[in-house]
Amino acid sequence: MSSLLSTLTSRLAVTLGIAGIDESLAVVTPSADPRFGDFQTNAAMVAAKALKKNPREVASSILEHLKVGDLCEVPSVAGAGFINFKVRESALSDALNVIRNDMHLGVVSVEKPKTIIIDFSSPNVAKPMHVGHIRSTILGDSLARIARHLGHHVITDNHIGDWGTQFGKVIYGWKHLLNRESLEQAPIAELVRLYREVNALEENDSALKETVRHELVKLQQGDAENLEIWKQAVALSWREFERLYGLLDITFDERLGESFYNDALGPLVERLLAEKIAQLSEGAVCIFFPELHAMEEKPCLIRKSDGGFLYATTDLATLEYREQRWKPDAVWYVTGAPQQLHFEQVFAAGRKMGIKTELRHIAFGSILGEDRKMMKTRSGENVELGGLLNEAIERALAVVAEKNPDLPKTDQEEIARLIGLGAVKYADLMQHRLTDYVFSWEKMLSFQGNTAPYLQNAYVRIRSIFRKAESEGMGDAIATASSSITISDPAERALALQILKFGEVLHAVLEDQRPNLLCLYLYELADSFHRFYEACPILKSEGDVRSSRLALAKVTSEVLKTGLSLLGIGVPERM
Ligand code: ARG
Repeated sequence: MSSLLSTLTSRLAVTLGIAGIDESLAVVTPSADPRFGDFQTNAAMVAAKALKKNPREVASSILEHLKVGDLCEVPSVAGAGFINFKVRESALSDALNVIRNDMHLGVVSVEKPKTIIIDFSSPNVAKPMHVGHIRSTILGDSLARIARHLGHHVITDNHIGDWGTQFGKVIYGWKHLLNRESLEQAPIAELVRLYREVNALEENDSALKETVRHELVKLQQGDAENLEIWKQAVALSWREFERLYGLLDITFDERLGESFYNDALGPLVERLLAEKIAQLSEGAVCIFFPELHAMEEKPCLIRKSDGGFLYATTDLATLEYREQRWKPDAVWYVTGAPQQLHFEQVFAAGRKMGIKTELRHIAFGSILGEDRKMMKTRSGENVELGGLLNEAIERALAVVAEKNPDLPKTDQEEIARLIGLGAVKYADLMQHRLTDYVFSWEKMLSFQGNTAPYLQNAYVRIRSIFRKAESEGMGDAIATASSSITISDPAERALALQILKFGEVLHAVLEDQRPNLLCLYLYELADSFHRFYEACPILKSEGDVRSSRLALAKVTSEVLKTGLSLLGIGVPERM
């Protein structure tokens, strides 16, 4: 089944072909202003330029051959040569009646599914997962859900930072400063405390610095005691990460952290040297890119002169492993914009190694505090994700308890969880991923405007219409709500058109990995629904009109629920 828009587009393409015009000019877009119809194309204007003809005349000659009478009123030429389409009410009804019985709600899977590896979240062990990781986690999860929904084969891999120089400090701290009780209660916080304290002690004590460095070297050489401490630190951190992922309803297919690639690093560097892909340079090993203008001066360092390996070395080993194991079509790395150069280097080095897979850095901006600087706690530390999520739920609970004082406590809590977590996720996803945005509790928890609670509330409102219909003995109306949708009121028409766009928006999201397009779509859907709800009585109408309106409300609720679930956001039944 194809959508109205794609049917119109392909018919236009056929007509252009017959008229000897480039078929790729057949681009149809929704009209910005409903007075000019529902869809429009500027194909005639673009073609006229190339043909050196009058655009309005080209438009008229296209219209002579264009057969869309079953879908639209007679198309009109406007302005400098736009062709406007107004969809027939009957065509809208037909399309909606198809979608309503389609479990995919008009979303068609991609023709050629790809194998896509999504590398996201990837927090560091013994460091708290902070708001920088939150964007990666939320964005990566949503992209994974959407790509899967469209039929791609997705592998999510949490490339945790479980091997790095921080372990020298952590191990020294563990041996001399550990508080077992704190470690049991809040392992990451205790590990971070150790890290910070040793860091401070080291500052003016070069002998200590040397001892700490030695702990790291011992770990790298496989010392049993240090390995055991490292293992425990990783396991304890992971336990806490998992609790957060559980809360956020996020799962991973793989958790192959940096340590997994340890043994591969030495041989990889040797091989790249032997293959002359890498070169020795002042004792270090680098991959140079003389052929890439922008990166001539930016070689990728893969072994330091003291023999240590780097972040990039691990990423190259990871890339090779993924190639061999999954033969992916694409690998997406969801990490902040500051890592741009790192990925440019890794990708360029990967090309030299013969890797042809599409590699993409899905970069994102920062989360700012109300002062428009990087979000920090009052004492200047990174805001810790766990605390942030708890606060979101608590704040939502206060709102829910105020609105529904009679609801049992456990129900209030369950609703608050959906609203609080939904609000945090949505506030992030609704932004273009590259924009920095200001974190504001007031805004994200508001029931008005482009927020998760607003969308959840639209869903809840529809569910309550159905509950009311049932309690008022309108079972027959609900039953026949699955019969047929007819469109007559302008508000119905606007809602219908919006519902029908669902099939396109998900594909648009994946073109440039931008879930904000789905957010905007859902916001406009909820908005169209509210206009419809105000203009068109549902339960107060009768007979076929009532059934039709109930059916329209029902599809709306299904699209809202599915759309939100693709953002990783759940819906309550009441709120
Ligand atoms: N652990 C890294 C960080 O916190 C992110 C890792 C991203 N993934 C990768 N393959 N480099 O910055």
